[in-house]
Amino acid sequence: MPKKTLEQLGEIRGKRILVRVDFNVPLDKKTGAVKNDRRIRAALPTIQTLRERGAVVILMSHLGRPEKASPEERRLLTMDRVAERLHQLLGQPVPVLSSGDDVVGPQVQQAVQALQPGQVVLLQNLRFDPREQKNSSDFAAALAALGDAYVNDAFGTCHNDNDTSMVALPAALKAAGKPRAIGRLVQRELEVLDQLLTQPVRPLVAIMGGAKVSDKLGFLHALLHKVDHLLIGGKMTYAFLKAQGRQVGATQVADVEVEAARPFLAQVGNKIALPVDYVAARSDDLHQTILCSGDVPDGYEGVDVGPRTVATYIQHIRMAGTVVWNGPVGWFEQPLFSRGTYALAAALAACRATTIVGGGETAEAVEQFELADLMTHVSTGGGAFLAYVEGKKFQSLAQIDDQ
Ligand code: 3PG
Repeated sequence: MPKKTLEQLGEIRGKRILVRVDFNVPLDKKTGAVKNDRRIRAALPTIQTLRERGAVVILMSHLGRPEKASPEERRLLTMDRVAERLHQLLGQPVPVLSSGDDVVGPQVQQAVQALQPGQVVLLQNLRFDPREQKNSSDFAAALAALGDAYVNDAFGTCHNDNDTSMVALPAALKAAGKPRAIGRLVQRELEVLDQLLTQPVRPLVAIMGGAKVSDKLGFLHALLHKVDHLLIGGKMTYAFLKAQGRQVGATQVADVEVEAARPFLAQVGNKIALPVDYVAARSDDLHQTILCSGDVPDGYEGVDVGPRTVATYIQHIRMAGTVVWNGPVGWFEQPLFSRGTYALAAALAACRATTIVGGGETAEAVEQFELADLMTHVSTGGGAFLAYVEGKKFQSLAQIDDQ
């Protein structure tokens, strides 16, 4: 059943709307500056719509993992820099509300009561309250008291079943008879991913990269059932090679990764394509590179896919009706080893297929290459993207009213 959208919230002029966004953005470790504002920009359509309709917009997000941070690191995890960036993007100030050191409390209550239609505020980092990750009914009740309706526009966090603001809060609003909807960002993510899962235009080609097979087992199994071709790249290549009995030189591959790759070997040459050549760099001098196929020589580690692999993968992309991509195929942050990832990103940008890029590192790569706008969809979800494609049912979305 489709979920209630912003349009179906009814008359919201003057109503206080609690909007859970995912402003968990990368920050500069020294200064706390926002390094990539993609998730903030992606939330603008919802914020603008609510503002234009005269609602009071109360934004909430977590930022980083303060529970694991040192006191110094924790100081950088306040919402101030995110609010500054949002101020620039919206062209209006976005105050960060808190009650002394607390995320909720009397000062926040008072401040919220005084807000005028069209104003936008941001609560302090929800994870500064340890109850946020415990689906706490207390914390949910305190947050629920601030608003008249709830909007989930935090696709990147939708897989977190224990987060109060994602699950217990909409449950508390339901108990109080208040409406719960999805925002524009979540609506778009669900449209694109549901289409991918149910009626993809074929051939459906998946590109899988990144470091660990073991992290993506469920995703790989789910994809294998659906795709016509699965193209492997990135560091996980070497787990497959090792499982095939090849030498991988100085490439670090844990035994657990080799065992995770082993069950998929039967499909190699059938649905699964492995790189046929790779760029390897000397581990004591990364500038010394060679191109190899078969085994990786001693003292060298695999850092990118080679040109023959790129050419074969591009053929698949050109023939595809849909391409879904998760995980860079090389060490793209190093310009010297970014050629494979760039070539595939450029092929996706130029092809006629529907192109879906998973969040996290893959999204970073296409942005770094300035190709993100040429993709059909770049997901804001990292773990959430993998979990959704894998078929996991999200508690957070189950809480949203049906249409
Ligand atoms: C993410 O970046 O994947 C989400 O914001 C969730 O963050 P978390 O992994 O810290 O729960």
